[in-house]
Amino acid sequence: MSDDLSAAARAYSNIAFIKYWGNADDALRLPASGSLSMNLAGLHTTTVLRWSEDLIGDSLTINDQIAQPHALRRTSAHLDVMRERLGIRHRAEIRSSNNFPMGTGIASSASAFAALTLAATAALGVELSQRELSALARRGSGSAARSIPPGFVEWFTGASHDSSYAETIAGPDHWDLVDVVAVVSREHKRVDSTAGHATAASSVLQSARLQTVEDRLRMAKGAILRRNFEQLAAVVEEDSNLMHAIMMTSRPALFYWQPASLAIMQAVRRWRERDGLEVCYTLDAGPNVHCICASSDAQVVKSRLKAIDGVNDVLYSEAGPGAHLIADE
Ligand code: DP6
Repeated sequence: MSDDLSAAARAYSNIAFIKYWGNADDALRLPASGSLSMNLAGLHTTTVLRWSEDLIGDSLTINDQIAQPHALRRTSAHLDVMRERLGIRHRAEIRSSNNFPMGTGIASSASAFAALTLAATAALGVELSQRELSALARRGSGSAARSIPPGFVEWFTGASHDSSYAETIAGPDHWDLVDVVAVVSREHKRVDSTAGHATAASSVLQSARLQTVEDRLRMAKGAILRRNFEQLAAVVEEDSNLMHAIMMTSRPALFYWQPASLAIMQAVRRWRERDGLEVCYTLDAGPNVHCICASSDAQVVKSRLKAIDGVNDVLYSEAGPGAHLIADE
């Protein structure tokens, strides 16, 4: 073991085409269903982590600011999982930075926990398989499991810690799809996904979603493998609508959409059905609208989105790589 127990890792956010919403096991973050996503090359977290026996506690900065206590608690809880796996008692000093707005339904926890997991192992000189890294990242944030492997990724439900991990179904170069994110709000969301997952089962619609999710996973996977945009668009929008229907009918009800979100969804359908643009929408636990489109249509989509009232900003991202180590910055 060298003296310098530090490493730097970068991981990319991902956008789910078939959503993760609700856990079968909250403590282990075993999801109620499988999910499917695309990593986002333009939206990433970079994390530098140093383990030391001399530290009295873990510390965390995010974008050079000392993190809020709840963020540090969540990070420390994940480090406890890592400490147990790695057989150490060291505390860690962590510097993390995002190149995108946090807490707006753009999955910052996915890239954050994927980068943290990789940095924590690499800092100790431990090389884990992609599968094990993915399962471990899942313990920090479910969607982080999908930010470990590259490209288009499927996360298997699994019935145990080891069997719930994500795997690439096609590399980032397989299909030049782009995620053009219409940013409607940069405000921190009031109910985060962790709290949301816990309410999913209170919606009478959740069981119907779970009964049919395997069909949607098969359809989405087939559409990706065959690069069939029309089929992908249909199943991606249906799955997003279903998840939001569950959110809206949970106890308490969760409404993430804002008026501008709905205006964008309606516009996207028109652009596809009337104008023949290859574009479809999907929303996570926030009001921002991810517009998945063919790269050839991305510029048109971007300028049309900017013209919609309530759109503050537009982010652009191609399919991205998996989590990887970088030279310490
Ligand atoms: C709506 O992975 O953020 O974005 O495990 O509690 O961190 P935690 O939840 P998280 O949930 C993501 C929910 C979603 C859908 C998705 O990305 O599949």
